[in-house]
Amino acid sequence: MPGKVSEEKINQVRDANDIVDVISQYMTLNKKGKSYLGLCPFHSEKTPSFTVSPDKQLYYCFGCGKGGNIFTFLMEHEKLSFIESLQVLARKAGIPLEYDQENDARLKEKEAMYHAVRFAANFYYLNLVKSVQGKPARDYLLQRGVLMETIKAFGLGYSPDSWDGLIRAAAAKSIDVNFLFKTGLAIQRDKGGYYDRFRGRIMYPILDKAGRPIAFGARRLKEDNSAKYINSPEVTHFYEKRSVLYGLSQCRQSIQSEDAALMVEGYMDLISLYQAGIRNVVATSGTSLTAEHAQLLNRYTKNAILLYDGDSAGSRAALRGLDILLENDMDVRVAQLPKGEDPDSLIREKGKSVLTELLNRASPLVEFKVQALAQTSKLDTPEGKSKAIRAILESVLKIKDNIKQSVTIRELAERFFLDERLLLRELEQAKRQHTGPKAGPTISTQADGKNAPAIKPKTRTKADIAEIILTKLLIQSSDLESYIFKNLDIEKIRHSLLREIIQIIFLFHRENRRLDRAKLIAHFEDPKIASFITKALYEPVKYVDGTKLAYDCMVQLEKREITDAMKSIQLRLRECEKRGEDSSKLRQQWQLLRNELKKVEDTARETR
Ligand code: UTP
Ligand code: MN
Repeated sequence: MPGKVSEEKINQVRDANDIVDVISQYMTLNKKGKSYLGLCPFHSEKTPSFTVSPDKQLYYCFGCGKGGNIFTFLMEHEKLSFIESLQVLARKAGIPLEYDQENDARLKEKEAMYHAVRFAANFYYLNLVKSVQGKPARDYLLQRGVLMETIKAFGLGYSPDSWDGLIRAAAAKSIDVNFLFKTGLAIQRDKGGYYDRFRGRIMYPILDKAGRPIAFGARRLKEDNSAKYINSPEVTHFYEKRSVLYGLSQCRQSIQSEDAALMVEGYMDLISLYQAGIRNVVATSGTSLTAEHAQLLNRYTKNAILLYDGDSAGSRAALRGLDILLENDMDVRVAQLPKGEDPDSLIREKGKSVLTELLNRASPLVEFKVQALAQTSKLDTPEGKSKAIRAILESVLKIKDNIKQSVTIRELAERFFLDERLLLRELEQAKRQHTGPKAGPTISTQADGKNAPAIKPKTRTKADIAEIILTKLLIQSSDLESYIFKNLDIEKIRHSLLREIIQIIFLFHRENRRLDRAKLIAHFEDPKIASFITKALYEPVKYVDGTKLAYDCMVQLEKREITDAMKSIQLRLRECEKRGEDSSKLRQQWQLLRNELKKVEDTARETR
């Protein structure tokens, strides 16, 4: 459970909020028997399969397999963290969340920082739209075609061209200059005292996930020798540019409904696209794309289209961004702009249609890399070609999804008239060089034929499936609990999340405490686990003889242990023989394991 809030408190908040009440605020639910039914907010459907059970205080979608409790609902629907969803529901129920004193002081300080930045944003905004000295900035934006409603939507502003315009205005509202300093809005003089960081610049407020301003990008108004853009510094953890995407707050709804995000480099690019009605855009603010950006975006869509300047610096940036996105399970395409243009200039000069055309023609990974490499290397020589292929394979390696990976390999093979198997071999080799063989299943949110996010290994072995079934059996009822725990060695469950679930159930079992299955998910914060658990409750494993099913599963786990041990001995044997050493001991060990495996198989056959 999260740091400072006690489990009791969390239970109290959960009990004080009824799940039907909570979910009804976000969607329409109709009573049907004991449950409520509605159109699933997590996937698109025409007939409702999203059910909410007041007695279990759980929701579950029979269509896409998402499920959970009030906390996971807010986490998934509103993209909140666990703590944030707890805060929302606590506030709703009027339950104060206790923090220790240190935490409380930190919280107050953070509040004061938010307040200071909000004040500044408002001050800059009013200065742009209302003041006399804001006139040149208004004219500048007007001349660039920025409409008043766009200025409002993004809260654009203008910082007065003076040393203490903001500091004095803040002081008049009793905002301590210390908080302007801590948020990077004021700079400390060597001799003591402070001065405004941003002077005479167009201000672009940068908002956090909750839509609060936390920093600024600032563009010079006059074409002087100063930097074109300066950004708020990262004084504290309050603002970290590596984890903030500019425009996300304004564009996240479109990103979700379009299920794709355009990624651009500049503030003005994003604003221009938005104004032209292309509203599924984000920009990194004054930094290159990071894994954290990719993960943040991944919450809203898995499809990214990089929109980069046509010059080579732009395409180098795109190449780096591409790999980062691939590594974070995104599908990526790249749209390249004509040389010397950025999205903003292109829209202004050629209109929206040119840009939409460009987006429609965005190249998938292979094509883009080929084009990019064609600029720097010779693809018509065998060396040039194989260098290019290796470079592309580097990116293909980063694609998380196996199916997508093999589709890309096929494209690559077709593009270069190569044997697909050759490429697969190269890929396997590159994989080994990079990570070494990866053992065990991984958690994947990939579609399961349907849209089901689930705990599932990439390539399921019988043992992988066995541990999933065992976990489901333990979740769906307490019937088989005694039998399974008498015979199961929990350490043999390899999937760490499944093991965690089983361990919780085991804890209750060992202490003879009754575990309310509907409350099991309260022990976890990860919505993926919540879905796995609710799925087991709503769509239980069907069986005639439960003991038999559980037994068979445990046999699979046993067999895996033995065959894995045999495999590792085999590897050592080969090494040993290569070196010309005596391998008789290893052979003996291998034979023993062989016999053991046979015994397990025989007993399993007899009990059949
Ligand atoms: P550009 O130089 O391409 O500017 O920088 P721009 O976005 O087209 O801006 P306009 O159209 O001239 O107003 C692209 C982005 O790189 C960052 C900013 O985020 C900018 O939007 N940048 C650029 C800086 O952080 N500092 C700089 O000095 C320049
Ligand atoms: Mn520009």
